[in-house]
Amino acid sequence: MKKKFSVLVKEKINKFNKKIKIPGDKSCSIRAILLASQCLGVSKIKNLLESDDVLNCVNVLKNVLGVKIIKKNDIYHVYGNGLNSFRFKKNITKIYVGNSGTFARLVCGLLSTLPAKFYLYGDQSMNKRDFTRVTEPLKKIGAFFYPTNKKTLPLTIEGTSMPLSQKHIEKKGSAQVKGLILMSALSSPGITTIEEKKISRNHSELFLKKINADIKVRKFKKGNIISLRGQKNLYNFNYTVGSDPSSAAFIIALTLLTPGSKLVMHNILCNETRVFFLKILKKVNANIKISNLRKLSGELIGTITVHSSKLKPIVISKNIGKFVDELPILFVIAALTKGVSVFKNIGDLKNKESDRLLESKKILIQAGIKCKVTKDTMIIYGREKIESKNKFILAKTKGDHRICMSATILSLVTGLKAKINNYETVNTSFPGFLTTIKNLGGKVVTK
Ligand code: S3P
Repeated sequence: MKKKFSVLVKEKINKFNKKIKIPGDKSCSIRAILLASQCLGVSKIKNLLESDDVLNCVNVLKNVLGVKIIKKNDIYHVYGNGLNSFRFKKNITKIYVGNSGTFARLVCGLLSTLPAKFYLYGDQSMNKRDFTRVTEPLKKIGAFFYPTNKKTLPLTIEGTSMPLSQKHIEKKGSAQVKGLILMSALSSPGITTIEEKKISRNHSELFLKKINADIKVRKFKKGNIISLRGQKNLYNFNYTVGSDPSSAAFIIALTLLTPGSKLVMHNILCNETRVFFLKILKKVNANIKISNLRKLSGELIGTITVHSSKLKPIVISKNIGKFVDELPILFVIAALTKGVSVFKNIGDLKNKESDRLLESKKILIQAGIKCKVTKDTMIIYGREKIESKNKFILAKTKGDHRICMSATILSLVTGLKAKINNYETVNTSFPGFLTTIKNLGGKVVTK
């Protein structure tokens, strides 16, 4: 259990002009470790995100699933023994997934092709999140889950030595679901197919291409058909993780909303399934430039330069798979932008580390912002100026890192005093967030 702490924000931030470094991307870091464990030979991973979610994944692989992993001069060396090569004790193996939906779901893909039992459990927030998106596709390939019909963790998964390659239809726009099916397909004989109805982040597909897995992706209607022929040996790789655009989003918002500010960030992952929020922001007048685009380890990276901007309201009604993690901070931007912003079809936000629709609303209302939430819509009546006198935000974040960071930005930009609880959870995705805020001139105190 991590030591709990709160953060107090007491003052409005002054304008700044800085260059900052954002830590490595969480999705790519988790995939790099998991896939390296399935390769033959020593893979070397640079700029791995050293956050609680990723380090928990490293620890489970090392200490529970028998994968040798060593950090030498900031580079993670993963000694892979090939497909289905995890080593574990005969009776039920316990796997703690912490706060990480991505690790919990992707690792199930790898466990589903091992004829053994694994008991998966997470922290309070993880144990409330939907797991039918894992059990349904994996039951189809022949894995079992106990207790049967339970929808959340803790759960026991029993994998199979005879996995069946199947055709899966992915309707949620979830990269975790797509990823876990691909992880399972790696050790399944024959061709597994996924009809991706709604586009979501495609790091698993790009990674598998980079390491020469037998994977094909072709466009189909509004999405893709992805097919993977399993049981092909994969070999060790070198990989450098780009900086996380979803973490950068918080600092981008801070810059846009702090008049007279400028920010430069290099080596940000600019995969088009990840920077859609920048397109949304540019459409509403944000002064954001992406330059020096180039490929790094099969992914696009670039430099992002942001200037504070006077924005227009945001209207979104499309598939959220491409900007799901940026919605809480987009709500803050909408709240501080004059006019009515409308976010439609965002119901899956309820299934994140917390019910992000409800938790965001609670915070905005304390700041005096009117907002309406229905089953899958959020309407925000944004205001440019907020009277900070006699107002106070108390964010009881339910262990949700992105709600903590969104509340911090709201408070820094408006000068509304805030107390944000359970701040330790920010370490799951953005270690160094508070140091970055202080470096930009923000006055924050930990308690
Ligand atoms: C992730 C996919 C997204 C995202 C999460 C990371 C991934 O979740 O919210 O932070 O790495 O595959 P969903 O697949 O539930 O949309």
